Formats: sequence, structure tokens, C-alpha cells
Amino acid sequence: MKTLLVALTFLDATYWAELAEAGERLGAATAVLQGDGPALVTQLDALAAAGDVGAVRLVGVTFGDDQGPISWLGRVARWWLITRGPRLKLWLEPGAVHGVPVALPEVGAARPPSAKDSLSNPGWAKVPDVARHVLICRGPRCNAKGAAATHTALSEHLARRGAEDTEVLLSQAGCVFPCNQAPVVVVQPDMAWVGPVTSDDVPELVTRLLNPGPFDPGLPVSRPERD
Ligand code: FES
Repeated sequence: MKTLLVALTFLDATYWAELAEAGERLGAATAVLQGDGPALVTQLDALAAAGDVGAVRLVGVTFGDDQGPISWLGRVARWWLITRGPRLKLWLEPGAVHGVPVALPEVGAARPPSAKDSLSNPGWAKVPDVARHVLICRGPRCNAKGAAATHTALSEHLARRGAEDTEVLLSQAGCVFPCNQAPVVVVQPDMAWVGPVTSDDVPELVTRLLNPGPFDPGLPVSRPERD
């Protein structure tokens, strides 16, 4: 059985080079669930096309404090089976590996994807009725300058104010261009590229995001130059 190591979060995907190197050393395939790198469905397609792999064990890998969105391994795996047919037997390991694996994890209580692993849900049909959409850049320069801490602080402070996904939608993005201002946050529909935004700046920034009037970040801001 082939092991497929899957980086689970945006942050985990930034360790892609280390994970790919470990996979090569251990004889495992590697993929990302989200963020930059080969997508899980792409790698499953490649394994199926190779023709010499009958079964694949999906193992989540995370570099954070918890398992992250490990349930999405099953959801994506089942979607792949539904859309491609049973070209591979897929097995899901319930626990994630923390950090770069030094050896292939033991086979645990792996299970095949089941009907409860669904990629859609009635609750995911609607566009949220929010006043602002905030994109936190998770590109390489912003990550190097603390975007992970900025993202965590933004999520925590918006949740504390009861505003996450109700008044402000928070998303992670790749490079949004003015890297010299890293870590950069883009605020829409205000067309404001704000940065640097550190975790210390976040409480005041959240207050300003929730202000229904014109957006004034109180921090350096760039807007597109137009003729
Ligand atoms: S990496 Fe964040 S703006 Fe380029």
C-alpha cells in the first residue's frame, strides 16, 4: 500500500519542500489539502495513472498545534472516488503526523471514505452577508514576517466580537503584491492594502473594520494607482 502524506493547512503547505523531501526519502507520495503545492486530487490522479498502485493510505501532516482540518482528507478522498471511479482503494488514517516525518507512520485504525465524508453541505450554499472581506496574505514574505500570528489574532478578535463570518469574512490568500509592507491584509470592498499588520495591531484594526463608516485602518495603506 502506498502512503500519501498530505499537508493539511495553509501554514502546513509552506513546509512543502521539507515534506516533499521526506516523502521522497520514505517512498511516500506527497500533496497539499490547501495552499500552494500539488493538490490531493492531482496526486491521486497521478497514482491512478501510474497503474502500479492498488491502495493508498492518506496520512495528514501538520506543523501546527492541532490536527487542523483532518476531516477534509475523507471529504476530498470520497469526492475523488465519486468523480474518478474506484481506480484506487483509499484508506484514511484518523490521526495526523506532527512535523516532518522521519519514518512512515504505523498503519493505525485506517478506514475507507464513507457517505459521511461529503464535500458539500446545505449550510455551505449561501454567500455570507458580510460588510467586509479581509484577505490575510500567506505568501512567503508575509509568512516570514509573522502572517500566521496576524491571522490567528484576527480570527480570535473577530470571534470575540461575534463578527467572524457574520460581519467580516476572513480568508487566507497567496501573495497580494506589495510584499515590502508584509504582513499585508487586504480589505474589501474598500480596495485597501494595509501593512505591516502585526498581531499587536489587530485589536484596533478589528474595531476599525467593524466601524460601518468609511474604512480608516490607522496603519499604512496602499490603494491601486489609476489614471
Ligand atoms: S507575500 Fe504577502 S504581499 Fe507578497
